[in-house]
Amino acid sequence: MSMTCRVYLLAVLSFRLALATPMLLKISYPADYDAAAVVTAISDWMADMGTSVWSLSGLRQGDIMDVPTRNAITAPSAKWKNATMPYLFQNGFRPEEKVVIMRGMKMIMSKSCFRFRPFRYGDSDFVNFVHDEYGCWSYLGRVGGGQMISLQRGNCIQTGVVAHELLHAAGFDHQHNAPDRDYYIFINYTNLDTEDFEHFDKASASEYTDFRLGYDYKSIMHYGRTAFSKNGLDTIIPYEKYARIGQNKIPSAKDYKKLNILYGCNEFL
Ligand SMILES: *[C@@H]1O[C@H](CO)[C@@H](O)[C@H](O)[C@H]1NC(C)=O
Ligand SMILES: *[C@@H]1O[C@H](CO)[C@@H](O)[C@H](O)[C@H]1NC(C)=O
Ligand SMILES: [Zn+2]
Repeated sequence: MSMTCRVYLLAVLSFRLALATPMLLKISYPADYDAAAVVTAISDWMADMGTSVWSLSGLRQGDIMDVPTRNAITAPSAKWKNATMPYLFQNGFRPEEKVVIMRGMKMIMSKSCFRFRPFRYGDSDFVNFVHDEYGCWSYLGRVGGGQMISLQRGNCIQTGVVAHELLHAAGFDHQHNAPDRDYYIFINYTNLDTEDFEHFDKASASEYTDFRLGYDYKSIMHYGRTAFSKNGLDTIIPYEKYARIGQNKIPSAKDYKKLNILYGCNEFL
C-alpha cells in the first residue's frame, strides 16, 4: 500500500470514528445540588412511602433536568423525528438491569407507534441511559445530541421509573403541574418548605397541552399525596374524594393516548 493511500485511509478512519463517537450533552446540575443527599434518599426509598422515587432526585419538580439556555419546551422542536428515540447504554449496565429498562421501553411500544431502538451510526439525537449519576431524571423532550436519562443503580431501575422518564424525554411534563390543575387538586403549601414551592409551579398554557383529554389522576406523570411533604401530611389533595394519585407502575390510558396523538399514531387512537 502506498503512503498516500495509508494516510488517506487513516484520515477516513478517524473521520468515521469522530462521527461514530456520540456527542453527549454536558450535564449541569443546579448550583445548590446535593448529590450525596439524593443518592441516600433514592437508596432509602421504599414502595410504601407514598412518593414516587423519582421525585427525590433534587431537580426541578423532582426529576426534570433543564438545559441552561432553555427551560421551556415548545412541542414541535422537542418531538423525536419519525417517532423514534434511539438509545445507548453507558458501559457498565448489568444484563439484568438492561432487561428492566428494555421492559419499560417495550411496555410503551406495545401501546403506541412510538419506537425505541439501539443507537446507530449517523443518529444525531438519542438518549443515553446512565447509571453513575444521581437520582432518576430526564430532560423534557428531545434536546438535540445525546441526552441522558439518569437511572441511579437500585431503586431507579424499575420499569415504572423507566416509563416515567421516557415519557419526559418524549415531551411530557408532570400532570399535577398542568395549567388547569387547580380545578382538580389542592396544593397544601402549609405542608411544604418554602424552597419546595417551586416544584408546584404551574406550566404555562402555551407550553402545555393535554390534547383536551382532561385531567388524569391516574397518570404515571402525577405525583402522590405526600410529594415533597415536610411533615408527612398531604401536599396534593384531589378534589375528587376517592381519586387515587401517584401510581408509579404503568402509563395510564390517557398517557398513552397523549403519546399517540403527539406522534400521530392514528392506528392506536
Ligand atoms: C421511520 O420509522 C419506521 C418505523 O419504525 C422505520 O421503518 C423507518 O425506516 C423510519 N424511517 C426513517 C427515515 O428513519
Ligand atoms: C393543610 O394542612 C394543614 C396541616 O398542616 C391542615 O391543618 C389543613 O386543614 C390542610 N388544608 C386542607 C385544605 O386540607
Ligand atoms: Zn417526572
